[in-house]
Amino acid sequence: MVSFPTLRPRRLRNNKLIRDLVAETSLSEKNLILPIFVKENISEPEKIESMPGVFRYPPNDKLIKFVEDSYDNGIRAVILFGVPAYKDDVASSAYDKNGVIQRSVRLIKETFSDRLIVITDECTDEYTTHGHCGMVKTYNGSFYVDNDESLKVHARIAVSQAEAGADVIAPSSMMDGVVGAIRKALDESGFTNVLIMSYSVKYASTFYSPFRDAAYSKPAFGDRKTYQMDPRNAYEGLKEVELDINEGADILMVKPAHTYLDVIRLVKENYPEYPLAAYHVSGEYSMIKAAAINGWIDERTAVLEITTAIRRAGADLILTYYANDIARWLREGLPF
Ligand code: PBG
Repeated sequence: MVSFPTLRPRRLRNNKLIRDLVAETSLSEKNLILPIFVKENISEPEKIESMPGVFRYPPNDKLIKFVEDSYDNGIRAVILFGVPAYKDDVASSAYDKNGVIQRSVRLIKETFSDRLIVITDECTDEYTTHGHCGMVKTYNGSFYVDNDESLKVHARIAVSQAEAGADVIAPSSMMDGVVGAIRKALDESGFTNVLIMSYSVKYASTFYSPFRDAAYSKPAFGDRKTYQMDPRNAYEGLKEVELDINEGADILMVKPAHTYLDVIRLVKENYPEYPLAAYHVSGEYSMIKAAAINGWIDERTAVLEITTAIRRAGADLILTYYANDIARWLREGLPF
């Protein structure tokens, strides 16, 4: 005799209305952060070869036009990455009052004031000849990144970004104690209201390669494995998160996102009371883009599925180069 099931999960999938009614996860442009590259000494937006659809913007009316279009499209938060006019050993163009980030932040804030959240990536790799996320020293003839020397520079960059008007500082160096050093420096300079979004669990990932083309920030020698996390580790991320929380991080981040959904879930389950961001990074963007350009995948459906998966894993916020597309696509309705 055939027995028929009484509990039929399929009933909840009968049609789109019922599926929408019971959906566990939602996606909104309000939770997206748009990364923007700003570059010194150009006058027109510049294509990034390895990231089709993404540009470097000059800190002028072209940048404002792009931010305005994004704003009109529903975007309410941007994170800025700088490509400076000059590099040296100590990242001085990162804390220059007239550096590309400082000028861009001032320009955007003059136009948008508090209608838009301006976040600044805080690191030294784009501003140094060696391309590392801290100060490089030699010991017995070999190079290393000196943690505590680096903290002073990171604190100085953060204060300079806050002086320019940044709402949120996002330290991405993975130096031990960087959040605490920045929090202390910000507070002492009167920026107690400036938030810190920490790249808490940031892996030494190959998926940053297109970004390093975009920002010319490939390390001149060595790699980032002595400061960024080992892809084999998940639980170690909880230690990084715990430290960042104790040092004063307001928002946590896991990066990359699509490749590390398990880590997003782990952090969210252990620290549900902290807003969690996930960075859908350049390589994750470019892989979808390449497949889409070749006609191997439906870009819209793929991006919305992946972004929803990142939210489902536990991310509250998503940094993505697809932010503008997602905002537009969401108005057309979800593909589920
Ligand atoms: C460091 C930084 C990097 C990214 C964001 N901040 C590069 C790195 O750590 O090498 C990568 C972002 C991406 O790949 O989209 N300033």
